[in-house]
Amino acid sequence: MGIVIATVNMKGGVGKTTLTVNLAACLAKLHGKRVLVVDLDTQISATLSLVTPQDFARIRREKKTISYSIAKVLKPSSRYKFETKDLITKDVCWVKGLDLLAGDIDIYDEFLVSEKLHQETVENPYIDFSDVWNEFEGSLIKNILAPIIDDYDFIILDCAPGYNLLTRSGIMASHFYLMPARPEPLSLVGMQLLERRIAKLRATHEGDKNCLESSLLGIVFILSGSTLFARYYEQVMQRVSQDFEAAKIFQTRVPMDVNVAKAIDSFQPVAIENPGSAGSKAFAKISQELLVKVQQLAGD
Ligand SMILES: Nc1ncnc2c1ncn2[C@@H]1O[C@H](COP(=O)(O)OP(=O)(O)O)[C@@H](O)[C@H]1O
Ligand SMILES: [Mg+2]
Repeated sequence: MGIVIATVNMKGGVGKTTLTVNLAACLAKLHGKRVLVVDLDTQISATLSLVTPQDFARIRREKKTISYSIAKVLKPSSRYKFETKDLITKDVCWVKGLDLLAGDIDIYDEFLVSEKLHQETVENPYIDFSDVWNEFEGSLIKNILAPIIDDYDFIILDCAPGYNLLTRSGIMASHFYLMPARPEPLSLVGMQLLERRIAKLRATHEGDKNCLESSLLGIVFILSGSTLFARYYEQVMQRVSQDFEAAKIFQTRVPMDVNVAKAIDSFQPVAIENPGSAGSKAFAKISQELLVKVQQLAGD
């Protein structure tokens, strides 16, 4: 069974998507793993880091984005028949084993979700709305991934900032979550808040067979370019190491590297577009660290 990892942080712009696509690229290209990137963010940054806008337009025309699998859960009677595997774009960026379940700018309609869940409680007055909601949240992404989980070694979910339904459902469908962060005090607060929220989410879903026990795989620090910040960053990272076990902090840090940002112009992760760059080398090391961490934790 594939290992499912959610890349999460309440803050936007911290490097979630960059980490997701580069890790996925390194795991497929350097380690020969079968990897699926699932884009759960309506900003579709992961999608546009792996396919061109023209390809994305075609994928959308062909109805092969995650929004269709969510629509199918909301309206199972639809005449459009497909399985999750039919939505997957294979071997993106010409890397064998690197697949994408593309995101969409409209992933789901809040109104449809509320209506569907409300309807279930109307039909059965003995059911509590919060139970219906929790069941939906716990099973949505898990059920979409279930038919394809054995086809992959890793499935990496690129989550949106904040803590929306898809992020929560993604976390509950994951074995692990990965937290990219900038070593800044507010980012630190964000990490603690997220940890608390995930603990609460786990407690809500305790005993639910549907959900996995998502646990923290690790924190990846993304550094700013200026060496002037170096000493201050070390102090903040020291504070983090008081809150989290040392084993949870990736040794390798991602440097700010203009090649990482520039790679987006060619719709490829830097790990593929410019493997010799400082950023790519860091992502390659992080992929190695990740394999060791997963092996240790999966063995526990
Ligand atoms: N190591 C890095 N070096 C240079 N730019 C980076 C690096 N990591 C991320 N970026 C840039 O920062 C911006 C935000 O990163 P992104 O991964 O999209 O964050 P998030 O997914 O958390 O919102 C993007 O423009 C990305 O290219
Ligand atoms: Mg993102």
